[in-house]
Amino acid sequence: MRSVLEMLSGGGYVSGELMSRELGVSRAAVWKKITVLRAQGWQIESGGKRGYRLVCEDRLEPELWTGSLTTRAIGRGEVRYQEAVGSTNAEVKQMALAGAPGGSLCLCETQTAGRGRLGRRWESPAGVGLWQSVLLRPALPPQNAPLVTLCAALAMARAVEETCLLDVRIKWPNDLIFQGKKLCGILLEVGGDLDAIEYIVVGVGLNVRSGAYPPELEGKAGAIGEFTTPPHRRDILVHYLAALEDMVGRLEQQGFHGIEAEYRARSCTLGSRVQVSGSVSLTGTAEALDETGALLVRTDDGELHRVLSGDVSVRGVMGYV
Ligand code: BTN
Repeated sequence: MRSVLEMLSGGGYVSGELMSRELGVSRAAVWKKITVLRAQGWQIESGGKRGYRLVCEDRLEPELWTGSLTTRAIGRGEVRYQEAVGSTNAEVKQMALAGAPGGSLCLCETQTAGRGRLGRRWESPAGVGLWQSVLLRPALPPQNAPLVTLCAALAMARAVEETCLLDVRIKWPNDLIFQGKKLCGILLEVGGDLDAIEYIVVGVGLNVRSGAYPPELEGKAGAIGEFTTPPHRRDILVHYLAALEDMVGRLEQQGFHGIEAEYRARSCTLGSRVQVSGSVSLTGTAEALDETGALLVRTDDGELHRVLSGDVSVRGVMGYV
C-alpha cells in the first residue's frame, strides 16, 4: 500500500483527488495526513488546484526512494531506516542472524559507533553522509567473500560517477579517492564457516558533505561537496544498489573475471609504486590482483608478494610522494 509521502516523493504537484483515489481514502484523510507530515517537519507546499508538492530535501526515508529502485532483490527485503544507530553493520548482522532475506538493508542519518577497517572508528555525523549496510546471501564459495568488497567499491564508484559526474578511483582494496582525498570506506563482515557463506554485511560510508574527520585523516579525507554540488543522497543510494546487484551477479556467474576489467580501469593502485604496511611491510610496484582479490606487488629485487590485507599507500595519492 503506497503512502502520501511516497506519492509526493517525485517532487512535483500531486492533487488531493488523485491521492485519495490511489490510496483509497477520503480527501479529508489525505488532508489530515498532510497536516501530520507538516507537523513532523516535512515542508509541503499547497498549490491550489494542482494539489501538494513536497519540497524535496535531502532525506533518506525509504518512502522517498524505494519507488525508484531498479533492482531485483537488493533494497526489496527488510529496509530499516533510523535517525541514529550504533553501527549499520551491527544492525544488519542482527537482522541476518534473525533470518532477514538477502537484499535487506539498514541506513541512518548518524552512527554513534561507526566501525572502520582495522578496528578503527568511522565518524558518521548527522545528515552529511550515506551510512548504510546491505545484507547479501550470495551463491559464492567462501574464498570469494573478499571479492565482494571489490564489488562494493566498484558499485559506489559507478554510482558516484553517474550521479555526481566525478571520476573517482579505487585505492586497493576499497577506498574511493578523488583528487587525493578519500571519499568513501567499505567494511565487509562475513558470517559462515569454511564450507559456506551464511551472510555478508557490506557496509559503506560515503562522505557527501563535509563533516568532522578523525585527526589521522585530516587533509586526507574529503567529501563530494568539496568538488561538486552533491545530489540527494537517496539518488546516489538507488544507483549504488543497482550497481551492487549487477557486480555481485557478475561475480556469482563468472567469478573474479566478471569484475576484473572494470576494477583495473577504476584502480589507482594497479601499475603504481606502493608502500604496504600492516602484517607485512614492503615497497614495490602493484602489478595485478589474483583470483582471490589479493594484491600482487613486485619488490625491486624481482620477487612477487601476495598482499591479503593491510594499509597500502600509492605514490602520488594521499601523502605518499
Ligand atoms: C574504512 O575504514 O575505510 C571502512 C569504513 C566503513 C564505514 C561504514 S559506514 C556504514 C557501515 N557501518 C559501519 O559501522 N561501518 C560501515
